[in-house]
Amino acid sequence: LHDMDKRWLGTPIEELNRMPQCAPPLTHLKTNLLREGEVPVSFPSKFKDAWDDVSVKMPCSEKNLFPMETEDAILRYNIAHAKKWDFTALNLLCTEYLEPSELQLLFDDILPAMAKLALSAPVLCTMPIPLLKSKMNHSLTLSQEQIACLLANAFFCTFPRRNSRKSEYCNYPEINFYRLFEGSSPRKIEKLKTLLCYFRRVTQTKPKGLVTFTRQTLNTPPNWESSQTLLKRLHITCAGTIEDDGYGMLQVDFANRFVGGGVTGHGLVQEEIRFLINPELIVSRLFTEALEYNECLIVTGTEQYSQYAGYAESYRWKASHTDEIARDDWQRRCTEIVAIDALRYRHFLEQFLPEKMTRELNKAYCGFYRNNAISEHLSAVATGNWGCGAFGGDTRLKALIQLMAAAEAGRDVAYYTFGDAQLMRDVHEIHTFLTKRQVTVGRLYYLLNQYSTLMCRNCQTMRPDVNLYSFIYEKVSTPAAADAPDSKDSGM
Ligand code: AR6
Repeated sequence: LHDMDKRWLGTPIEELNRMPQCAPPLTHLKTNLLREGEVPVSFPSKFKDAWDDVSVKMPCSEKNLFPMETEDAILRYNIAHAKKWDFTALNLLCTEYLEPSELQLLFDDILPAMAKLALSAPVLCTMPIPLLKSKMNHSLTLSQEQIACLLANAFFCTFPRRNSRKSEYCNYPEINFYRLFEGSSPRKIEKLKTLLCYFRRVTQTKPKGLVTFTRQTLNTPPNWESSQTLLKRLHITCAGTIEDDGYGMLQVDFANRFVGGGVTGHGLVQEEIRFLINPELIVSRLFTEALEYNECLIVTGTEQYSQYAGYAESYRWKASHTDEIARDDWQRRCTEIVAIDALRYRHFLEQFLPEKMTRELNKAYCGFYRNNAISEHLSAVATGNWGCGAFGGDTRLKALIQLMAAAEAGRDVAYYTFGDAQLMRDVHEIHTFLTKRQVTVGRLYYLLNQYSTLMCRNCQTMRPDVNLYSFIYEKVSTPAAADAPDSKDSGM
């Protein structure tokens, strides 16, 4: 095949590391409560309440002053919002979209089971759930059953203090689902279908695994200038998606600093879709404070419950999905997703400012780096146009930044261009060129900054005259002395 007709370039995908094959043996969890194929038992056995500023405030707490004795209607519980909240989408789903048999299933089985599940919080979630606050390295493991219970509560909007942006939780994402029910956009209908598929599944069969949420802070960023690291391998393709083809790899969530972004509202791009098809991700919104510039959230073990088609406006729930990913020794699916939030750019040139490029490098590195890990045991990073859709970044710059961060973290990259064949060829070409010439990450960092100074700083137009890759080809190809910092005026 000529390059023009190829669907992928670079290293064959089979050669990249995937979990669980690439992993070293896991240290055993300090518990004997965990058995394959059995629902894990909650610890402690009795509900322990913590109504404080380091834990999630639970709906079942004695301190929760919302009326408890009323019926199950969301508005009778959240009296303060009775006039504002709107259930048009939920209403439309029931009156216009669902078949009579589906409607009957919803009212006879799914909703009552969800209510029961929500009310089982004091027996399922007995241990206070710590908030994963900013500037802390912190891990939290929940069972999939606990997560289902918490998400059922989110559906019924029972989490106290979480309905107002002004509250003590203003630096946390929204968790109660009330925005999902409002308006008449088809997006909401499809989101509801996707989530109801999840609730149907988990109320029919108790899920048996665990999910771990880790907040990772990068305290000492790499010294990019002096890095001698060479780029690692790249598989790049214009076909397929991160979630389907990057199984077993570290899958990048193109996140918002409020993880999950607009999943409970109007948003419906990469991050929101991932949170809908793997709804256990949504529970992270309950306890994950907004990500700082040097932080990420790593989620291991979520399950995919739905298949979808389309994207954004054309997104459709397609079908229930049976996840066949293997489980690890902790009974977690070998699906590792990392939320890293890119910066949002309104003007093309902004992203070439040295401090912005460094911020993105550190953010990606924070997501990819694993303490004490050996490169051979690390899965490849499955990523794509991070920060280049809703956030307006340049794909060619971001691809390079991610390749540099992955190299520094010791990982290969599988890059999904989401249909863009030209981008696939361009990134492959520069990766091949840089690898052949043994250009280090440090040199590349220098070149990025040089591009910023020479081409972007005094640029009067929307875009620089020379694009980034041409600049790099040119600088690397001309003899080294020509662009040494002090040789500018010499030789004439
Ligand atoms: N696999 C591979 N590539 C994809 C996939 C996929 N499944 N889906 C989309 N792309 P975007 P951002 C490509 O806009 O710019 C959310 O609201 C596709 O080319 O989701 O980082 C978050 O919560 C797409 O244009 O990411 C944030 O608020 C590109 O990836 C915000 O969007 C970027 O996807 C983040 O925006």
